[in-house]
Amino acid sequence: MIKQARIIELPKFLDVRGNLSFVEELKHVPFKIERSYWIYDVPGGETRGGHAYKENQEFIVALSGSFDVILDDGEYTNIYSLNRSYYGLYVPKGMWRQMQNFSTNSLALVLASTHYSPTDYIHDYEEFKKWIK
Ligand code: TYD
Repeated sequence: MIKQARIIELPKFLDVRGNLSFVEELKHVPFKIERSYWIYDVPGGETRGGHAYKENQEFIVALSGSFDVILDDGEYTNIYSLNRSYYGLYVPKGMWRQMQNFSTNSLALVLASTHYSPTDYIHDYEEFKKWIK
């Protein structure tokens, strides 16, 4: 099993007027949130990610539609299918991660533990394998 990565179920208030879910930092999300970004209008068949972060941790929610997140800790690989807006995937630092199989009109919300930093990225898989050792 992949180290520490896990699906976290969020609170949900089911209501005939429409449902409501929420996240709180250091409660449902196991880090302080420094940044949020979202991925949308992904054309069919496209892949996002394909890199690792040395320090940044993430919490990924499929706010709408569905997609898969593939995590690789250098030893094991797991595929997490996200298709409900009340589940989040916690992605620890130091994971190779890729997002694919986006459904039409899917919307991925990503909460991140650090500000954007290009130097935190590892873009080359072989470099990642060396770094993780
Ligand atoms: P990137 O993280 O490389 O996306 P993906 O791995 O899904 O291809 O980001 C794409 C571009 O967006 C890149 O040029 C950097 C920019 N970007 C920011 O400026 N701030 C951010 O918080 C993020 C996530 C990306």
